[in-house]
Amino acid sequence: MSIVFHPEAQEFHLFNDQVSCVLEVMANGHIGNLYYGKRIADVPSFAYLHEDRDRPLTAINAPWPSAFSLNYLRQDYPAFGTTDYRYPAYKIRRENGSEIMDFKYVSHSISAGKPSMAPLPATYVEHDSAADSLAIELFDAVTATRLILHYTMFADLPVLARHTEFIQEGEESLCLEQAMSLNLDLPDADYEWVHLYGAWARERHIRVSPLAEGLQSIYSMRGTSSAEHNPFIALKRPAADETSGEVIAASLVYSGNFLGQVEVSTDRETRLQLGIHPNNFRWNLAKGNSFVTPEAVLVYSDQGLGGMSHAFHDLWNNYLVRGEYKNTPRPILLNNWEATFMNFTEADILRIASKAAEAGAELFVLDDGWFGKRDDDFAGLGDWKVNLKKLPNGIKGLSEKVEAMGMKFGLWIEPEMVNEDSDLFREHPDYVLTDPERFASPSRHQYILDFSRKEVVDNIHAQVSAVIRDAKISYIKWDMNRYLSEVYSRGTDAGQQGEVLHRYILGVYDLYDRLTTEFPDILFESCSSGGARFDPGLLYYAPQAWCSDDTDAAERMRIQYGTSLVYPNSSIGAHVSAVPNDQVGRTTPLQTRANVAFFGAFGYELDLNHLPADEFAAVKEQIVFYKEWREVCQFGTFHRLINPFGGNDMAWISVAKDQKRAILGYYQILGLPNPRLLRVYPRGLCQDAVYEVRNQASGAVLRLPGSVIEHAGLPIDRDLLRELGGDFASLLLTFTEVD
Ligand code: GLA
Repeated sequence: MSIVFHPEAQEFHLFNDQVSCVLEVMANGHIGNLYYGKRIADVPSFAYLHEDRDRPLTAINAPWPSAFSLNYLRQDYPAFGTTDYRYPAYKIRRENGSEIMDFKYVSHSISAGKPSMAPLPATYVEHDSAADSLAIELFDAVTATRLILHYTMFADLPVLARHTEFIQEGEESLCLEQAMSLNLDLPDADYEWVHLYGAWARERHIRVSPLAEGLQSIYSMRGTSSAEHNPFIALKRPAADETSGEVIAASLVYSGNFLGQVEVSTDRETRLQLGIHPNNFRWNLAKGNSFVTPEAVLVYSDQGLGGMSHAFHDLWNNYLVRGEYKNTPRPILLNNWEATFMNFTEADILRIASKAAEAGAELFVLDDGWFGKRDDDFAGLGDWKVNLKKLPNGIKGLSEKVEAMGMKFGLWIEPEMVNEDSDLFREHPDYVLTDPERFASPSRHQYILDFSRKEVVDNIHAQVSAVIRDAKISYIKWDMNRYLSEVYSRGTDAGQQGEVLHRYILGVYDLYDRLTTEFPDILFESCSSGGARFDPGLLYYAPQAWCSDDTDAAERMRIQYGTSLVYPNSSIGAHVSAVPNDQVGRTTPLQTRANVAFFGAFGYELDLNHLPADEFAAVKEQIVFYKEWREVCQFGTFHRLINPFGGNDMAWISVAKDQKRAILGYYQILGLPNPRLLRVYPRGLCQDAVYEVRNQASGAVLRLPGSVIEHAGLPIDRDLLRELGGDFASLLLTFTEVD
């Protein structure tokens, strides 16, 4: 890995053995992009890739006879108002109303390692040898504003991380109206674009569309990263598939509003941008103020979408997740939500917990309903004191009883919210994020607390940390069950209202930071009405996220398949729940529910006391099985084998990093009459090693070399699937290397 500066050519080459990025200081002092893609050799100059052309209807950004125009030049952080008519990466308004800026190269520095971005979450390295970083400094002489472009190249992954910093040193008060984290200009438009699209209970479905001239975008203006779109975009060559072809992907390490867009120009160049959504964003750059954009990471793969996912999974697991649970198998939990909702007594909870302990679960999680006057969703949020009517021995007493059963104890909180019927609201109505002259729109009968204000975060921190300190708590599920609507802070000046959305997210990160620092042993799981805030920003604090409120096995296949594009199984909270399923009314086999949830941070979400004896025995077996296989399921290299979108089958495999073991899940949606023959082609095995392949449903065993398994494939036993009930039947195959 290296970052090289060629002084004569004024070019930077950032590369490792997989990817290269070449930047230049252009004649006007701006930074141009000459190349991004597969690793190429370093040469003294790539200047031939800088294409000045005199073209019709093109304004020239230099005195005649130059042909220098930003109209078509590939730039790294383009501005409005020069000669580029495409979407700019940033926008600054001056006191005189002008939006023309001219940041010119001043200097740069190259260093080993990666600087921290605190208080923003970001990827990090533990040793300087794991990454090199480049900071390019530019200056606008008229306003005396500094712009620093930051880049980090990781040594062992095809990943370039980026962010941008604005620092106002001049006297003028500037207004930063847009600041993307990433701009990437590419020389052609021969791509399809891929993103994750959804809604509540059907998050992160995969969408692949051709690129068209003009703009295509995804975004969130909901105050959180959202269930509707995920802060991720990929450009893939049309022929690229799961294993081959070029993919360029970007992900934003951020949990609030974002915009991701792809612009195809008339010259068929592509501009990819990702960053905070400019709507409702205005940051004051008065003298001494600065702004740092969230981090964006760029992944390059020449091994298709599979290669892209492997890079993301390794990046998040090795360089984003922190703490005790980094690369550590996650406890098998049982959560009481779908078993009781908010209607429970301590005796009910102990009965459910004791059955969970008998089944072999390692963690019991008490969900919503334990605090304040929380008997339904009209009351209680904001009052983080145990409801002694339901739990007379408090959380302390309950947690001790659960621990005495041999399990850890976990607790649900929703710290960013308040109900009108709560002591907190009665005491501090101004803590609600809303315009007091307007109607405050409730959602699930709750309001958003103004986390852009430190005193609000302080109040919630004091309450929540007291509960945690008092009891034996090993896990916290941090929920967030509505989007932001009337975004107005009563603790903020008129001139800073445009900062509130970002400051809100900084407040969320602040509380996460305080709690994870004070309680480093606790495993945090983020949640937002299921998976409405599943993003890398939160993975920095909470290594796993509840993937979806939809626990139906057939729906989960698609949700988890889509989620795996960017996020590793270790981060995907996945539970077996009761049937008929609460969200869709469907009944799927118990084993299939488990076979889907195994490929995630696994648990149960039902009262095991209600299961017939044979099903309870099956649950016990599932837990024994999973304890043996979870490390492979959660931390193996994950390959998507058969895509469920639009088809009747799905398959995936997770292969241990040392390739000695692997586990494959095959799932059929409906049982079909006289079904066609089907083979599944596993991937990621060691070609020469011999594996024992065990069909967990039938017990049938094969012994075959990896090359045979991968290339000749494994026939799917359709008769067995019919015996297993046909509809929603599934098979698990385990692979163990034998001598
Ligand atoms: C959200 C979560 C659920 C559950 C409920 C509790 O919907 O996604 O898992 O915690 O809130 O109110």
